[in-house]
Amino acid sequence: MLTRVRKAWEIAESNAISERAYFSRRKWMQALGFAGAAGLLPQALQAKGTADLYPAKRNAKYTLDRPVTDERVATAYNNFYEFTLDKQRVVDMVDRFEIDPWKVKVKGLVNNPKTYDVDDLIRRFPLEERLYRFRCVETWAMAVPWTGFPMSALIREVDPQPAARFMKMVTVFRPEVMPGIVSQPHYDWPYVEALTLEEAMNELALFGTGMFGKPLPKQNGAPLRAIIPWKYGLKNIKSIVQIEFTKKRPATLWNKAVPSEYGWYSNVNPRRPHPRWSQAMDRMIPTGELRPTLLYNGYEQHVAELYKGNEF
Ligand code: MTE
Repeated sequence: MLTRVRKAWEIAESNAISERAYFSRRKWMQALGFAGAAGLLPQALQAKGTADLYPAKRNAKYTLDRPVTDERVATAYNNFYEFTLDKQRVVDMVDRFEIDPWKVKVKGLVNNPKTYDVDDLIRRFPLEERLYRFRCVETWAMAVPWTGFPMSALIREVDPQPAARFMKMVTVFRPEVMPGIVSQPHYDWPYVEALTLEEAMNELALFGTGMFGKPLPKQNGAPLRAIIPWKYGLKNIKSIVQIEFTKKRPATLWNKAVPSEYGWYSNVNPRRPHPRWSQAMDRMIPTGELRPTLLYNGYEQHVAELYKGNEF
């Protein structure tokens, strides 16, 4: 039997202050103008990362009609063109992609623009786990336990001005560690996606921070990505560094690249074939099992009211 001997620098659990107490202590130290208060605390008490927030409590409202995809499959079969077009190789190419520190700048037509440290942002709003269907425009599909917080929580905090109609999101641009940016100069990097403000305020729309009860792996868009389950996967932009509220509809990477194939809305729609393939069926990974594709990926009751029915 292994007995664990405590190292000199470790503190007994009973001596550690609870995270809640630590945060409120940090708050009042900051309120007293105690610059660099965290620097005075023993290292063991400093918040580092957000791993302690997982697994988050599951929201039972969102249920699935299919089995959850194997974690090893969902985290090793990726579209992340900044690295490579080869879905099975992204996972091997993210080692040099550093995600700490990471800032997220919120700007544009908002009353409270702010640059957040991503760990602070993730701690700011309660995280929850939701089981969602996920459907790529290329027809492959999976079912994922995502962790995140509603986009509406952040939107309320930054307080859009009446003129704001769209929310634009931008992925980090690091050609030095993202070889796909260099080898595919025909795309207009950085990756950009956008939603109408009403879409972003919909209860289904999440900022994703984790999956399978853990923080997001880099290949799946750490540390912050969009989860929009009624739209094709391409709208689910990864590794976000900037969020901007605009009056004019922002151009998005895929829509700009091939407008006839990738609509600005890109709502899942089995009745509208892609010019080169049918969109009638979901092809589940890794089994290849075929299931009829559902309008709005099965989330019609949540989102149909956002549309007139002919958005592409
Ligand atoms: N975000 C960025 N920055 N770059 C990308 O290439 N691909 C999109 C989306 N987000 C992409 C992106 C596409 S086409 C899909 S299907 C999903 O990410 C895939 O997400 P996953 O790898 O977590 O399954």
